[in-house]
Amino acid sequence: MVSIEAAPIRVASMHGQRNSRVCDRIMSTTHALTATPIAGALGAEISGVSIADEHDAETIAWIRQALLDYQVIFFRDQKLTPDQQIRFSRRFGELEEHDFVKGLPEHPQIIRVVREADEETLNFGGAWHTDVTHQECPALGSVLYGLDVPRVGGDTLFANQYLAWDRLSTGMQRMLDGMTAVHTARGPFGPQGRSASNWKNMQVEPSEKALEEVTHPVVRVHPETGRKALFVNRTFTVRFTDMTEQESAPLLEYLFNHACREQFTCRFRWTPGAVAFWDNRCVLHYALNDYTGHRREMLRVAISGDRPR
Ligand SMILES: [Fe+2]
Repeated sequence: MVSIEAAPIRVASMHGQRNSRVCDRIMSTTHALTATPIAGALGAEISGVSIADEHDAETIAWIRQALLDYQVIFFRDQKLTPDQQIRFSRRFGELEEHDFVKGLPEHPQIIRVVREADEETLNFGGAWHTDVTHQECPALGSVLYGLDVPRVGGDTLFANQYLAWDRLSTGMQRMLDGMTAVHTARGPFGPQGRSASNWKNMQVEPSEKALEEVTHPVVRVHPETGRKALFVNRTFTVRFTDMTEQESAPLLEYLFNHACREQFTCRFRWTPGAVAFWDNRCVLHYALNDYTGHRREMLRVAISGDRPR
């Protein structure tokens, strides 16, 4: 943990920097926030804030900068109503409803990610992925609230895609820069997709809409930090533009495996009331399926993002 002097706020640009960290401490009128990194590659726990409360612009700017600096931030011991989760998330952008998972009746922007103790299916989010890249404008980020977390297992892994890009050879970077790839939701959410037989306690609605395809750059420039991040994922990316799936498979497979190398990752152990807020523009995540016999229920809100460039 690093502390800084009691400057009123420190929101610094991290453009182009790799391993340095800022905003480790802030004294504002009502809060003393601290960011404590949980791994070398990305991820920090934020303490000193109840996200159920209303916050001034300064505090929200600090949290936003912490998100940009650490790519994924965590808050422990929160107690959130759906309205409070929505109010906090709204401070970072418009919220969106999931195309294939029905939201809560009174709060359609919140989806319930649940697996009961007696289910043994693949869990929702149980593969390395970026959320909703089947959309033209994939989510900026998600705010996931651990409502009922298993006593054992159920951790979430995250992988830093700035590092994944930075660690490719210059030859590979030269080849990939400017390439685009096709993304579709047909794997998880198409009529023949995995959702047909999984997630029976979730409100998943497979549809023909999942067969639609969109194109995204293989490397995107983060709109706020200006840094380049690898932007392909095993759940939604099916081929490179103007290539067949067969032709694309070897290189995509290499990139999928490279993107989640251990040294790019962090691992979050859920505790009751914990919240994870990740930057979906530069992070992959993976919900581990190792809690058979235990119940896990999370509430997720997605914040609208921009078109990857
Ligand atoms: Fe996800």
